[in-house]
Order: sequence, then C-alpha cells, then structure tokens
Amino acid sequence: MKRQTLLYMVLILTFNCAEEKKEIEMAPKYVEESHSFAKPNDAVITHLDLDITVDFDTEVITGIAIYSIEHLKASEIILDSKFLDIISTEADGKPTEFELGPFNEQLGQALRIKISEDTKTIAIHYKTTAKTEALQWLSPQQTADKKHPFLFTQGQAILTRTWIPIQDSPQIRITYDATVSVPKDLMAVMSAENPKQKTVDGIYTFKMKQPISPYLIALAIGDLDYKAISNRTGVYGEKSMVDKAHAEFSDMEKMVVAAEQLYGDYDWDQFDVIVLPPSFPFGGMENPRLTFATPTVIAGDKSLTSLIAHELAHSWSGNLVTNATWNDFWLNEGFTVYFEIRIMEALYGKERANMIALIGRQDLEDELAGFKDEPDMTKLKLDLSNKNPDDGMNSIAYDKGYLFLRTLEDTVGREAFDAFLKNYFKTNAFSTVTTEGFIAYLNSNLLGPNGITFNTHEWIYEPGIPKNQSIIVSNKFKNVEKTLYSFLDTTAIDISKTKGWTTQEWVHFIRNFPDTITTNDLSQLDTAFNFTNATNSHIAMVWFEQAITHNYHGNGVDHNIEDFLIRVGRRWYVSTLFKAFKKADKADEALVIYKKSRSNYHSVTVNTIDELLGYEQY
Ligand code: BES
Ligand code: ZN
Repeated sequence: MKRQTLLYMVLILTFNCAEEKKEIEMAPKYVEESHSFAKPNDAVITHLDLDITVDFDTEVITGIAIYSIEHLKASEIILDSKFLDIISTEADGKPTEFELGPFNEQLGQALRIKISEDTKTIAIHYKTTAKTEALQWLSPQQTADKKHPFLFTQGQAILTRTWIPIQDSPQIRITYDATVSVPKDLMAVMSAENPKQKTVDGIYTFKMKQPISPYLIALAIGDLDYKAISNRTGVYGEKSMVDKAHAEFSDMEKMVVAAEQLYGDYDWDQFDVIVLPPSFPFGGMENPRLTFATPTVIAGDKSLTSLIAHELAHSWSGNLVTNATWNDFWLNEGFTVYFEIRIMEALYGKERANMIALIGRQDLEDELAGFKDEPDMTKLKLDLSNKNPDDGMNSIAYDKGYLFLRTLEDTVGREAFDAFLKNYFKTNAFSTVTTEGFIAYLNSNLLGPNGITFNTHEWIYEPGIPKNQSIIVSNKFKNVEKTLYSFLDTTAIDISKTKGWTTQEWVHFIRNFPDTITTNDLSQLDTAFNFTNATNSHIAMVWFEQAITHNYHGNGVDHNIEDFLIRVGRRWYVSTLFKAFKKADKADEALVIYKKSRSNYHSVTVNTIDELLGYEQY
C-alpha cells in the first residue's frame, strides 16, 4: 500500500551543488480539478476521526471531524463544505480561525482553516442542516418493516461534503475511524469494519484501515439484521428483507472467487451488501466492504444480480484504482461494466454475459440518440467544469467505456488483455488514475510491447462510436426478435416459443416493440403474459415505458405505474418513466404523479426529475 508522505508532496526539490543552487521541478501529486475547493498540493488530510450523534427527531447529525494533515508549512488548509453549520475549528487542540467562502450552487463553500507551520491535526465542530443533500431521512412508513425510521447517505459524486466537511475530491485518500451514536433500537453500519448485531447503548465504532476516497464514506442506520453467506460475504437488511436478500445473493462468495481469479486478490477483507428501502436512488453503490443496494434487485430468481457483480467489481475499478477527477468517470464505470460482465460470464456462461452486454449496447444507442445535439457529451473523457458531475454520469461512461475495452480485448486477445488488466490494478492499487495516465499505461504495457496500433484517441476524445467496435451477438436475442416479429405479423401468440425465457430475454422482447405497435397488440400481450403485474422490476419498468409511450391503459396499468413511481426512487427507473411521459406529450400527467412521489425521493433523484419536468416553474 502506498502511503501519502511528505516526499510525494514536495513540489520543488532544492539542493546545493557547491555555490550553485539548483531547482528541480517535480510534477505535483494532485492534478487540478474543478469540483473541489481543496488545494491538496499545499495541505492535505490523511486520516479522519469522526465522532457524531444522529438525532432522528430533529433530523440532524451533530459532531466533530478531526483530521490528521500533511503540509509543507502551509498557513491554511482548505476543505469543502456544503449546507453545513460549521460551529468552530481547532488546530492541534487549540481554537483556530476559519472562514467560509462564497456559496457555489454545485460545490458549496470553501472552508479555510488557519494552521501554523507545525500543525498536525485540525478539528471541526459542525452540524448538518435540513438542506444536507447526501442524507435521506425516512419515516417508518417508507421502510420495509414500517416500524422504525431509517437513514442512509449517498456520497458519490460530490455529496460527502454535505454531511462531513472534507477535501471532497476523488484524488484524496484517507483512512477513518468513526464513533456513531444512534437511538438504541437501531443499528449503524458504514463503509468500514461493521457490527453484526445491535449494541446495548446505541454507540457504534468503526474502522476503515485502507485509504479510500471521500465519496466512498457511507453510513446507514435502521432496524437491521445480518445474515452471513460465507465467512467474508453476507447481507444486511430489515427483518423482512434479510432472508430474501440472503437467498437472492447466495452466489456472492462465488462472485468474489471469480473476480479474484480474474484480476487479483480482494483487498478489502469483507464484502457485504445492505438492502436499503426502495427510495435508494441507485441500483447499487460500491461503498467499500458494504455495497448499498436497491430492494428492486430482489426478483426472487437471482435474475438481476449482475448488479452485485458490478458493485463487487468496483472493489478493483473505482475503490482500489480510482478516477482522478469526475471527468475521468469512465475509468471507474467502463472498467467496472467490463469486469462485471466477465464475472457473470465466469459464473453463468457466455450467453448470459452477452445478453447483459447487448442490453447495455442498446442503452448506449438510446443515449447517443438523446445526445444528438450535444455530441461532446458522447466522449469518454468529459469536460464537466462548471457543470454538476452528475451530468456526465450516463450510459456513455458505462457502455461506451465497456465497448472500448471489449474492442481492445478482441484486438489483443483475452490472455494478453487479462494479464494487462491484472497488472493495471496491481500497479495502481490505492491510487488514482487520469485518462491520460491510463493511455500512457496502455501504450507502454499492452499496445507497444505487442506492436499493436489502436485508435485509442478516437475512442476516448471523439464523439460517437468508432467503426472498429466489437459486434456483440446473442442467439437467444435473435430468437426473441423472431418471436416478436412473428407475433406482429400474425397477431397470434405462441406461448411455447417463450418457455424458459430469462429476464434479459423478456426485457429485450418488450424494449424492441416497434413505434407502430397498437394498443390492441399491447392488450393481447398483456393478457397472455400479464406484464402489467410483473414482479421483476426491470421487466415492469420497460413494460410501463411502452404503456406510457403507446397510450396503453388496460389491466390497471396506470395505477401500477403510479404506485411504482411513488414507491421506488431508483433514479434510472424513475427518470426512464418520466421521460416516456414527456416523449408522449403527457408532461401534465407526469406532474400529477410527481407531486405525489417527490417527497419520497432522495435529493439526487429529485434534482434529475425537477430538471426533466421543469418542476420549479409550477
Ligand atoms: N457508482 C455507481 C452509482 C453512482 C454513479 C452514484 C454516479 C453516483 C454517481 C454504481 O456503481 C452504479 O453504477 N450503479 C448502477 C448499477 C449498475 C449495474 C450499472 C445503478 O445504480 O444503476
Ligand atoms: Zn458502477
């Protein structure tokens, strides 16, 4: 493991050669970035000691963040803070002055704390406020068991600064210890070493001994149980969820083994998943040691568990080797999708892996179409300065990133590519990589030695998809298309043709309805397959999308759509459905539902949907 040492931070090495003083400039350790006020080349945090009390009545977290810091005689250290009430600051235990800079809508405020030449630690006494965006406080009614309140945090991309004052850049790496005080009937878990049962006094202590980026600090509090799957994997959830989660994710240990065989040891000791209430805004979030997951992934048949493979893969691509800035986000997600699909292939075979890849390929096509007037947004390397990093967090990073890596694999062969990736993770473990750093590594470790020319520049810096893309083929999907077209030609449904179809085949079937499909066709299909009442969330979502765009109202589908949108806060699902309303010129209907559902959503989903529906105007 690489430690942050003063040596790395030295900008200018000065030494005497006889009379002559020579200055050698070294590259600064941290690159410039636009989503943090911190100046880590001047003064940087290395360890956090967090001591907080969580009050569910007032919905406020109060506490102290103490940081160990490193600097070369700096006079101040700059942190990020957004919507926090900063009460007082200390340097090495003594009161010191602080100043909050002007407020920026995206970034919040710079928190400048005065230090002296030899300051080793700073302390910040603070409180969260009602505006704190990372936190979602849930009433008992919004949980699975309906008895106790719940709280979870979401740090990525730049929300950690809304619940902890911190140098909130992915380039920063810190270890942390935390003491968290919660109501006695609840249990707290973090992205750290975790308890397996409740304590009597409601006080929990945590340790994260590997250095992680601030966006990966996470906390969840609720009436939780734990159930182990193996000696290093298991699930947390509310009582009514934990057995279901345990059954759904029972292949988790096998996934870790497959991942290790592909790209090297799992470096974080434990891999657990917590199933959160349905308002969790993502499918999953790769918080180290404890992935946060939506309950919509529990389908009853393990059909959506590629999401777990995805979050597990982030233990290498993302958590171990981290994108240096949010402009390099594709390095986190593109590699992770590639790795996810390799894990799925190892466990369930090529056919399943290719179906998942093809669903992503179609997502990519839809995203490209959506950006037809903004081609710059379809580049892998983005320029998100003055933008919310969320604006770059779409299918391009995931699915174009994946296609680039798969094309590379097909070009150099799997053996060479796997050896390269394994080395890439090992060489860059516990550090950050820029897109340019990756290209240099690729050239000198894969392309150069094998004498291969490859249009890397075009893939990364130009819009759209280069011609030399790998073509992904699935015979099962071809068969699905045949079944769909034969139904459309004859309007006769031959149920035997769909026997044994997997979730991916159903999703492909529904997503590929032509624009000309009639409500009568939809009604016939619904009668035969009861899509309106699908218990699989992905199938339900793509069906609802079709029902909205094609004005299908049978079988009580309108009620189910509204119910789904009120219950589920997963941004990808919710925004797909609200987009469908807009596309069908039914923005007014969307707003009627959104007024009822908005208060159930986490701030990241609210921000996306407010913008999509122009909510502010109403
Ligand atoms: N790290 C992401 C979630 C994320 C991205 C949070 C950007 C905040 C900003 C996570 O690993 C992810 O990609 N989740 C996907 C699931 C996946 C299977 C593609 C999701 O939530 O849908
Ligand atoms: Zn991801």
